[in-house]
Amino acid sequence: MQKLKVGVLVSGSGTNLQALIDGVKKGFLPCEIAVVISNKKEAFALKRAEAESIPAFFVNEKEFCNNLEFEKRMVEILKNFQVELVVLAGFLKVLSPYFVSEFTNKIINIHPSLIPSFCGKGYYGIKVHEAVINYGVKITGATVHFVDEGTDTGPIILQKAVPVFDDDTPEVLAERVKRVEHEILPLAVKLFAEKRLIIENRRVKIKGGLSDGEKASNYLGI
Ligand code: GRF
Repeated sequence: MQKLKVGVLVSGSGTNLQALIDGVKKGFLPCEIAVVISNKKEAFALKRAEAESIPAFFVNEKEFCNNLEFEKRMVEILKNFQVELVVLAGFLKVLSPYFVSEFTNKIINIHPSLIPSFCGKGYYGIKVHEAVINYGVKITGATVHFVDEGTDTGPIILQKAVPVFDDDTPEVLAERVKRVEHEILPLAVKLFAEKRLIIENRRVKIKGGLSDGEKASNYLGI
């Protein structure tokens, strides 16, 4: 099977990018990480890419006269590398309808809560986990979803729950959620690469269901 070319957009530490890199190395993902783009120069994710000889670009928003020009540059890079799937792996910027229309149903995002809770405008990074703890919910989790023109509103591909404990700090909870992110993001990319994701209105169905191996790997906690 032809390997799917994946472009990954990042802003931070890149542990989700690392999970994808590891998934490719282990042969779990029939993909090639073709390019990594960061909007933050200091993002450790860029170093992770460079360590694996993956082409890595810092695209500086400040060098462009407006957001459209900034996004056009990212689209240009992704298309130069013939990217077929864009993964937002901790990319802390909302993409405009222009960008989304360039990759319709070919962009996925990982969000550190159970959407539609604790998502949308203002819910990013540690703020999500602070809000979860302050609200007092007992269960949070992670969601992988397709990106549409809204913020965290696209069709949901996979979700997995994570317990919230009484003595959790946002940082401790973020780590627990990340462990789950590192399971469901690679699995979602695998399902996409294998053309097993069928979008019907808002619902994403998995063609043929999950294999025993996928279930056994505890990806969905079942
Ligand atoms: C993750 O919690 C992800 O859900 C959110 O941003 C964080 C990125 O973490 N969108 P990392 O850079 O992959 O470590």
